[in-house]
Amino acid sequence: MGTRPVEGALARIEELRGLIRRHNELYHTLDSPEIPDVDFDALVVELRDLEAADPDLAVDGSPTSSVGGRALNAFTEVVHALPLRSLDNAFDLDELRAWSERVARRLGEVPPAWVCELKFDGLAVSLRYEDGRMVQAATRGDGRVGEDVTANVATIADVPDELGSGAPPVLEVRGEVYMSKPAFRELNRAREAADEKTFVNPRNTAAGSLRQKDPAVTATRDLSFWVYQVGEVAGDGGRAEPTGHHETLRWLGDLGLPVNDRAVRLTNFDDVVDHVVAVDASRHDLDYEIDGVVVKVDDLAIQEELGSTARAPRWAIAYKLPPEECTTRLLDIEVSIGPGGQATPFARLEPVFVGGSTVAAATLHNADQVGMKDVRPGDMVIVRKAGDVIPEVLGPVLSERRAGSVPWEFPTLCPVCGSRLVRPEGEAATFCVDRSCPRQVRGRIEHFASRGAMDIDGFGEARVDLFVTEGLMADVAGVYSLDFDRIAGFEGFGETSVQNLRDAIDRSRQRPLGRLLFGLRIPHVGTTVADQLARAFGSLGDLEAAGVEEIEAVEGLGPVIAASVHGWMHDRPNAGLLDRLRVAGVDPEASVPDATGVPQVLEGMAVVVTGTLEGMGRDEARDAITSRGGRSPGSVSAKTTALVAGEGSGSKLAKAEQLGVPVLDEAAFARLLETGSLPGQ
Ligand code: IVH
Repeated sequence: MGTRPVEGALARIEELRGLIRRHNELYHTLDSPEIPDVDFDALVVELRDLEAADPDLAVDGSPTSSVGGRALNAFTEVVHALPLRSLDNAFDLDELRAWSERVARRLGEVPPAWVCELKFDGLAVSLRYEDGRMVQAATRGDGRVGEDVTANVATIADVPDELGSGAPPVLEVRGEVYMSKPAFRELNRAREAADEKTFVNPRNTAAGSLRQKDPAVTATRDLSFWVYQVGEVAGDGGRAEPTGHHETLRWLGDLGLPVNDRAVRLTNFDDVVDHVVAVDASRHDLDYEIDGVVVKVDDLAIQEELGSTARAPRWAIAYKLPPEECTTRLLDIEVSIGPGGQATPFARLEPVFVGGSTVAAATLHNADQVGMKDVRPGDMVIVRKAGDVIPEVLGPVLSERRAGSVPWEFPTLCPVCGSRLVRPEGEAATFCVDRSCPRQVRGRIEHFASRGAMDIDGFGEARVDLFVTEGLMADVAGVYSLDFDRIAGFEGFGETSVQNLRDAIDRSRQRPLGRLLFGLRIPHVGTTVADQLARAFGSLGDLEAAGVEEIEAVEGLGPVIAASVHGWMHDRPNAGLLDRLRVAGVDPEASVPDATGVPQVLEGMAVVVTGTLEGMGRDEARDAITSRGGRSPGSVSAKTTALVAGEGSGSKLAKAEQLGVPVLDEAAFARLLETGSLPGQ
């Protein structure tokens, strides 16, 4: 009888180890976690407690003694010179204080100072600089062996290729690659516009973006970096090395590495506690995500004295911020129809304040997700901000479920047009089958007229809605046969605004082929693919005539995109649409400026645009560059010809200044466009 508790504990320990390994793999190696961090942390705490209760049950190789996240096979392995350890966690203020007391007991005195840093929610990497140049970047992997991601990290504007003067001959630093909230929102906005799957949260997006086999893909993702720790150092850089961690951060900043300015040095642990409480209250003011505060002993000699366990240093702890969850009533589950016809279920919620804003609706993604979560109208549900940005319904509070509730069923008819909703075999998504569904028509026209596409002023949501509802247009070709006499009779349309609309539509006939292809909303065709197709085929006619193999042969395009483009072009109604566009005078060449003779003054130049320009939008600025033969990459490197910096320029401006890349204001940019010359030339 006496052995039973141990047997029970052993079975649970084994189960927990299995679960933790699996979720570790999903999180670290595959970048697609299935459970929230809080649930994962709870598994680890339970296992740690069970193992602590009976040390005989703790074994080497238990997830509690290793870091998690094996190296991915696709990349070359890098054996870290010094292991990249993880951090122990404190889940509440008592645990945080208990840690400081453990530290003091071990030392026999209270350390004189602590450093509090934000715990950035991204992906740990180690950067190795030799003689001031970055020679290697590696992910953490299992802490001992990581993946070589040098080429990918080199595309991150924040990461200097070269350090400033005074760098030691070998300097290895650790830090976090992350995606800012604005960059994440912008990426998802662009993907939605191109009918591509949107990403779930900034952390996983950053991790997935960094582990791309093709660094060119990483370069299109606006990743950032904060440095927070020194690894291996060899030789001296001509000055005394810092003796404290806070001083070390300043030193790293002086060398040109991006150091977060919210790190503080505090001499009293009560202040540390106040500080973490203050960070918790202000986490929404940051434009990047954090999941805690890291508290470190400042003095480096004391750090050394405290040492590390196999998993984590004793001189630091991660205070995990409580997850932002709350419960509210699920009023109903409705289905919204996207511009591509996709039927997405979403939860209509009793408004509730969570994660810094009021949430009244949350996506439920697709039928499977609703089934898996089994949330039902009328349930109390747990809501949280996934990665701080997107509200997510985690699941029902079963104990409060009302008697007689039944599982939700996906509607069979489109809520907008009443046509059938169909879920194609093997797909997670459900679609409205009628392409004349007004929601789809409106969506296609709005996208066609949008800034990045045909850029037609005066074609906002409300007007498109009006034109479609009034039967003035049923597809994008209808834009070019608008009945202006009828429009003149509508309320709010004076003579000038009708003329402006007429002019804006006329101007759009001149847009280059890439813009048109993007505007057509061909599945998988975003701006980049559209430009690649335009460059490769030169005209709409040549692209229509191309076989699927020819499209696939275009550099950077794969079979999925090729099949999608070819299929779209040869779909009867689409072919008819293209004919009507041509008749309306929309038949662009790859680049209008070539055809109209705009001098190619920027040939061979790479001009990066950042910040907000007063005179033109960012897309427009990029167009102006590419139509003059230049390139407009997304990040600054030593090869950049110039950076055009508008209002609110940040890391790209710092990087350009550091690399000595000329920085242009709007006036200088206008001159460059006209003459191809930089200031002082
Ligand atoms: S120090 C040996 N500082 O948190 C100490 N880590 O949960 C190494 N992290 O692997 C880590 N912000 O990816 C440190 N300011 C910060 C951090 C930080 C985020 C991450 C890092 C680490 C993980 C541990």
